[in-house]
Amino acid sequence: MNIDAICDCILDEGSTPDALRKALNGFASLCADIGGVRPDPSFDAWADDALLASGVAINPQAAAHCVLDYQRSVTYLRGVYAAIGKLQQRFCDAPLEILYAGCGPYATLLLPLLVKFSAGELNIHLLDVHQRSLDSVERLLAQLDFSDHSVHRIQADACDYQHPRELHLVIAETMQKSLEQEPQFAVTANLAPQLLPGGVFIPQKIDITFGLADLQYARKMAQQAGRNDMKNLQRRYHIATVLSLSPETAAHQLQNASYRPVTETWELGSTTLVIPHMEGITQLDPALFTHIVVFEGYCLDDYESEITLPMKCHDLAPLTGGEHVKVSYQPGNYPRFNYELLQHAP
Ligand SMILES: C[S@@+](CC[C@H](N)C(=O)[O-])C[C@H]1O[C@@H](n2cnc3c(N)ncnc32)[C@H](O)[C@@H]1O
Repeated sequence: MNIDAICDCILDEGSTPDALRKALNGFASLCADIGGVRPDPSFDAWADDALLASGVAINPQAAAHCVLDYQRSVTYLRGVYAAIGKLQQRFCDAPLEILYAGCGPYATLLLPLLVKFSAGELNIHLLDVHQRSLDSVERLLAQLDFSDHSVHRIQADACDYQHPRELHLVIAETMQKSLEQEPQFAVTANLAPQLLPGGVFIPQKIDITFGLADLQYARKMAQQAGRNDMKNLQRRYHIATVLSLSPETAAHQLQNASYRPVTETWELGSTTLVIPHMEGITQLDPALFTHIVVFEGYCLDDYESEITLPMKCHDLAPLTGGEHVKVSYQPGNYPRFNYELLQHAP
């Protein structure tokens, strides 16, 4: 499958899940053969990860593996394509200035789309902290015949990078489920203010909600049903939204994080929840759910991708009902949620 066919299949809303998987597998093996970085999901081994001040930048093999998170890749690519179309209408007199932060070794969320644009339409900047990823991207651009496009590579930390001009579009997918570990929050806070008025940041919104669900039952059902059917099959009780990350507010939220000397951590978005008294609560897991608005109608809901899988709050289980829990988000070198049990039910 060549890159044109891969792009057409991904953008075709009528493509079957099987065809989409084949297209993305084809893209991964094309990129691995040319770029020299093979997908490897073993990122929890932390080998070659870069431990930055604002989170972990996963190693090039693990970043390559993200392409095989199929629904994620398809939704982002369609969202990015729609956003570029909209921006070209909005800013029709000059090439679009695009920054793709955390491009990884395949620039997955933009490179397949280049077949749809002629040289001169887009001025692209691919940024990653890993030089090996940028070297891979350079080989891909040359071999896939994109050398006449204006594409620049930048080795930098997206959490403090300053672009020399205002941007029309920023794309950043530097996250795991529940915004833990990777620096999506800090990347958004640094780059979103560098957009032109009317520019677009992708993703447009990420919401993390706290709820109760039988995750074991969900896992069992996942083996029988497709992951996409999971939401409807699962018993789930929403309790509260504990964090919303949007380009408009991220920098302000981060500036207003409060320091806790006892734990020597910064905290933001602190929410106090009351766990309801309900039948069968001991069988339910406290968990965080992730919902991503990539661009307008292109969204990822729980179970639709690796980065929107529910995450069990191990520190809180088991619950009996009536507990008061303070939930806060801790940015820093390993972003994560923190839970504090304030009061137990009598
Ligand atoms: C989850 S992978 C995603 C790769 C690719 N964009 C995709 O969507 O398939 C995140 C990528 O962002 C890079 N990254 C994470 N944090 C970064 C930072 N602060 N500055 C630069 N690159 C970063 C990692 O090195 C990795 O290549």
